[in-house]
Amino acid sequence: MDRLREAVGPEACSNRTADLYTYGFDASIHHRTPDMVIQPRSTDQVSEVMRIAYQHGIPVVPRGGGTGLCGSAVPVQGGIVMDMSRMDSILEISVGDLCCVVEAGCVYQDLNDALAPHGFWFPPSPGSSDACQIGGMVAANASGMKAVKYGATRDYVLGLTFVKANGDVVKAGTRTLKDSSGYQLARLMVGSEGTLGIITDVTLKIAARPKTSAMVLAAFPDPEAAGRCVSAIIAKPLIPSSLELMDSVSIDAVNKALGNPLPDCKALCMIEVDGEPEIVEKELKIVEEVARSEGAITVEATHDRKAMNRWNNSRKAIMTSLAALRPGYSSVSLADDMVLPISKIPAAVVAYQRIAEKYDVTVATYGHAADGNLHTKMLLDPNDADSWQRGEKAVDEIFEATLALGGSVTGEHGVGISKAPNFHKERSSVIPTMVEIKKAMDPKNILNPGKLDQWEGSILRMLRYPCSEYQD
Ligand code: LAC
Ligand code: ZN
Repeated sequence: MDRLREAVGPEACSNRTADLYTYGFDASIHHRTPDMVIQPRSTDQVSEVMRIAYQHGIPVVPRGGGTGLCGSAVPVQGGIVMDMSRMDSILEISVGDLCCVVEAGCVYQDLNDALAPHGFWFPPSPGSSDACQIGGMVAANASGMKAVKYGATRDYVLGLTFVKANGDVVKAGTRTLKDSSGYQLARLMVGSEGTLGIITDVTLKIAARPKTSAMVLAAFPDPEAAGRCVSAIIAKPLIPSSLELMDSVSIDAVNKALGNPLPDCKALCMIEVDGEPEIVEKELKIVEEVARSEGAITVEATHDRKAMNRWNNSRKAIMTSLAALRPGYSSVSLADDMVLPISKIPAAVVAYQRIAEKYDVTVATYGHAADGNLHTKMLLDPNDADSWQRGEKAVDEIFEATLALGGSVTGEHGVGISKAPNFHKERSSVIPTMVEIKKAMDPKNILNPGKLDQWEGSILRMLRYPCSEYQD
């Protein structure tokens, strides 16, 4: 600890009880207290810290905004949490080169606020856009509502700097739009969840902001009809800029929390189209027609910014509304971002509800249906071991049903802890290669150890909740 304080300055290091406690969380169900928190201000400082950690075999867990939902930033073997939030500068915006360079701790929305006056943006739009950081987005390959049309974080990473386990600095990729120079190491860091190196800056491709947008809200008598509407819109072909599906549990939660902003129905689709005004007009009409022909009970369309904000805010409020739906219960993220072939969305929504009934747990299903990405949240009594056990069984069956439909365990949040066992089942053929890559890049296993392929046992270990059966 003395050497670390010398390397980065005492003000950048903390082992105060309150800091250690709070840096043991992200937005997942897990908690584990680290031994030290370090807030570096430069790549050189990160490199110094890694040299010391490497020499002494100390685990290091890089942390962005702490908004991850599956435990990727929880330091399960203690050691150092490296909080990147002080490296938050936008180093360059070059609209002529269609790129920008930011430090890893730059907040997503701050970057978009800076790009807006130039007529550009970085589109992936995660739900945590006001708090999540670009380094964390790269580490998770994060995305959100706009991924269907504009892609995920990986589609914008041109280059990045990362610090290796031994402190060496690697400048991977380029600041050009194309690059055929051998192994795409910048891409290897996408989705690595802090296990291969510490990302310190990122060069991103940027996109032109759409001129205008409009939205349709379509209410359906059942989730199957809503799911069919999603596939029918895509098959037109029409790629909306976002298409959110909500089931009755999500709608009910939002209506109770916010005073009925949404139609009371079994399922709804919130569809946005964007681009040049005349294209938006044309696409809006097509979306309305498809929704009606797929059996929508009501179809509302709007160009009004205030109305669109109201709908978008209702969608964004699902997570917090669910937390308030059942007194004494917590809304937890476990099977929280399955991704499926788009045509399988209706079957998945129905399967998840059946599983919820079988295990007597409340499950809300919603998400970015047009790119096949569905969220489920489960309401569990956090003090009751039986509630957790039913939840864990339901989670396993949700993943089983997802894989049987040709899907995958995570589309935008990452593996971390909560998805590790089912990730093992799904990707058994890639795990030996992942282990080899990890050994080559982190021979002492100090970078975010114990995650992804290394997690063992139940996902109910190291819970943040006071359920004594599940505290390590
Ligand atoms: C969302 C987060 C949960 O879409 O990914 O709200
Ligand atoms: Zn999402």
